[in-house]
Amino acid sequence: MIPSSDTWQLFLEQISMAPSADALETLDLQIFGRKQGNMTAAFKELGTLSQEARIQKAQELNGWKQKLTDAMETKKKELTAASHGSLAGTDGIDVTLELPEQETGHLHLIPEFIERVEEVFGRMGFEIAEGPEIETEEFNFNMLNIPATHPARDGQDTFWLEGSEDLLLRTQTSPVQIHYMQTHKPPFRMICPGRVYRKDADATHSPMFHQFEGLMIGKDISLANMKAVMITAIRELISPDVHFRFRTGFFPFVEPGLEVDIRWQGDETKSREGKWLEVVGCGMVHANVLKNVGIDPDEYQGFAFGFGIERMIMIKHQIPDLRAFYTGDLRFLRQFS
Ligand code: PHE
Repeated sequence: MIPSSDTWQLFLEQISMAPSADALETLDLQIFGRKQGNMTAAFKELGTLSQEARIQKAQELNGWKQKLTDAMETKKKELTAASHGSLAGTDGIDVTLELPEQETGHLHLIPEFIERVEEVFGRMGFEIAEGPEIETEEFNFNMLNIPATHPARDGQDTFWLEGSEDLLLRTQTSPVQIHYMQTHKPPFRMICPGRVYRKDADATHSPMFHQFEGLMIGKDISLANMKAVMITAIRELISPDVHFRFRTGFFPFVEPGLEVDIRWQGDETKSREGKWLEVVGCGMVHANVLKNVGIDPDEYQGFAFGFGIERMIMIKHQIPDLRAFYTGDLRFLRQFS
């Protein structure tokens, strides 16, 4: 039996009242589904009619088919428009809306500076190494040509670990030179940033501070190479027109030894205007140190250096007191975002 007009009329009403896209989909299947759709079945039945009746019914059915398809389309559009509308009302994104400004964090001055150090020395072919903060007396002093009775130990008084004879918090990153040379064959270039500990505490000294060590060993490395690397690093890390000077300096593990002072540009009170701040210790690695790690000083030579990170940042940003680095005061830190 081909359904009557009432049936199609009813479908039309159901379509116009469909509450959701799912409901519309179900109706679509009921009417046009290939297996059970009423319209599909009706068209199949046409074949059983006489030719005259068939032509007439076919016309009628095509009319309903058109109406129902149109109604479906219209309803579909209506439902999607409505769902967009409700999305806008709940979690839709209004791209014209101005949101309150979000505060984004940034690295602390010290790790930020260390990243920059790694970048600058990375470009000069230096590898980044690491070493322990708890050291033995052997690595921190003896192997670096500073025996127990050497007066150079006085300037590096540190924290010794309770219950052990020879464990201490390293006073310098220089023991990493020893670790590195014991495990690598020259030629090489390395830097090693890290924390170090001494008993001093005032505006330019803290019991914990940061250094980075550097080492370059090869067959014909000279003091001129060292100066070139120092000058490039200081200019890149502080500014191209920074004022600095080399002077001779004593460190038991280098010979000859140099220090680099950078002119302090002065704080608001101008108290340090024109003064020099010692920032770098460096020199040609002492033959005794090379021998200690089994490198033949007649075959290889090179230079080592140690930079004070806080002091570099103090000069770069005109910070008068290095204790500001560690208090976690956001009023201080936010100035450098
Ligand atoms: N370790 C020395 C210090 O802390 C600096 C230094 C490193 C000097 C390497 C020479 C060579 O003062």
